[in-house]
Amino acid sequence: AAGADFVVVANRLPVDLERLPDGTTRWKRSPGGLVTALESVLRNNNGAWVGWPGVPDVDVDPIIEDGLELHPVPLSADDVANYYEGFSNGTLWPLYHDVIVRPEYHRHWWQAYVDVNRRFAEHTAKVAAQNATVWVQDYQLQLVPKMLRMLRPDLTIGFFLHIPFPPVELFMQMPWRTEIVEGLLGADLIGFHLPGGAQNFLFLARRLAGQPTSRGNVGVRSKLGVVQVGFRTVRVGAFPISIASAEMDEASRRRSVRERAAQIRAELGNPKHILLGVDRLDYTKGIDIRLRALEELLETGEIDPKETVMVQLATPSRERVDSYVQMRSDIERQVGRINGEFSRVGYPFVHYLHRPIPRDELIAFFVAADVMLVTPLRDGMNLVAKEYVACHSGLNGALVLSEFTGAAAELRQAYQCNPHDLTSVKEAIMQSIADDADTRRRRMRSMRRQVLAHDVDRWARSFLDALAKGKVAGPALM
Ligand code: G6P
Repeated sequence: AAGADFVVVANRLPVDLERLPDGTTRWKRSPGGLVTALESVLRNNNGAWVGWPGVPDVDVDPIIEDGLELHPVPLSADDVANYYEGFSNGTLWPLYHDVIVRPEYHRHWWQAYVDVNRRFAEHTAKVAAQNATVWVQDYQLQLVPKMLRMLRPDLTIGFFLHIPFPPVELFMQMPWRTEIVEGLLGADLIGFHLPGGAQNFLFLARRLAGQPTSRGNVGVRSKLGVVQVGFRTVRVGAFPISIASAEMDEASRRRSVRERAAQIRAELGNPKHILLGVDRLDYTKGIDIRLRALEELLETGEIDPKETVMVQLATPSRERVDSYVQMRSDIERQVGRINGEFSRVGYPFVHYLHRPIPRDELIAFFVAADVMLVTPLRDGMNLVAKEYVACHSGLNGALVLSEFTGAAAELRQAYQCNPHDLTSVKEAIMQSIADDADTRRRRMRSMRRQVLAHDVDRWARSFLDALAKGKVAGPALM
């Protein structure tokens, strides 16, 4: 075969392999925003996706799923422990999220990260056609651009970071900081959500990659948005990601979803105010902060548990990483304490679910919620905030949003708050409840304009257009 003209490389495939009790396996579609956004580009360009099937120790053949060519990269149980749970989620994730949890630096985790990144690069080198375009995704694969370029100099390589890129002072902790910056500089275009992340990276590239390393001096000069690496030009820019806004809007208007939303309200005892949180159970999300704010508002009587309920939907995540285990037990203790203090029999104040929620059910919760609470200490973008907005064509509903999310740069009309300042969180919550319908409608209308105009297709298009502009060989993607 001639290979694929467009290759997406991500830690996960857009499908998960499921291991059944009898030892056999089957594929389960896990439709994230990324695959929705890239589906048409993949189909129109003889595309392929390279990624991990989500479970350790399975070596499966490439598959065609719904017309998309998927190339599984197998990971052993050790790879999962050291590359995924270890370096990706015990080192990079906390370091890039402002060191909310202390990053752990272990040489054997780093070694596994290098090994697995090399395997992803080798796989991709085999799958990509001559002069193909490759788009590498996220923090798990930051070494792939350079490794891939060494194997296949003919390729056009893009990289996008889906999480924040930290300030220089924090990044400098990283023992392998030079290797990571050089790994990224293997790309032709490096994308971040926000201009601030791009600036942080440019500064580092100047500071680190210009210095001699064990593998020699790459000689970097950087201007605004451009890094010169020898004879190559690497471009750096901000591309804020979004959601499939129109689809979300359409789904939220469906009669079945509306009926389910009304039913949810009834099941909750027809409260006056439904507050909602929807997150992966992650310490960056500030779930504990919103609960603490609510607890204080209940204590002072500013919130009456007879007319207000809180629903917290928490998707299980990275359950073998210590900091996640710790945080889960903290939050569950907090939920128990609040309910012990403020619930009546049959009417808990906090309704807490720890499980994945089916898509349509989730949309019904968005529709039902009067106030959405999004309070991360740090978040690259936060798509839940945008999803909530897309679900409120009736212009009811209010969004409480942390300033420390990427989304806050676009959703200026949210009730913004500083999650480090409990008073500010409490005030935002009370304001979102107290404002009159007109004010809430005006705010929601303005946020909807933003979200509907800037959807995930536009994001993918603008990144790929920018990537194609710097391209010297090969056809542009359709
Ligand atoms: C964040 C990351 C993604 C990751 C997702 C789920 O959004 O940016 O790369 O896939 O979390 O986490 P998981 O570790 O389950 O893939």
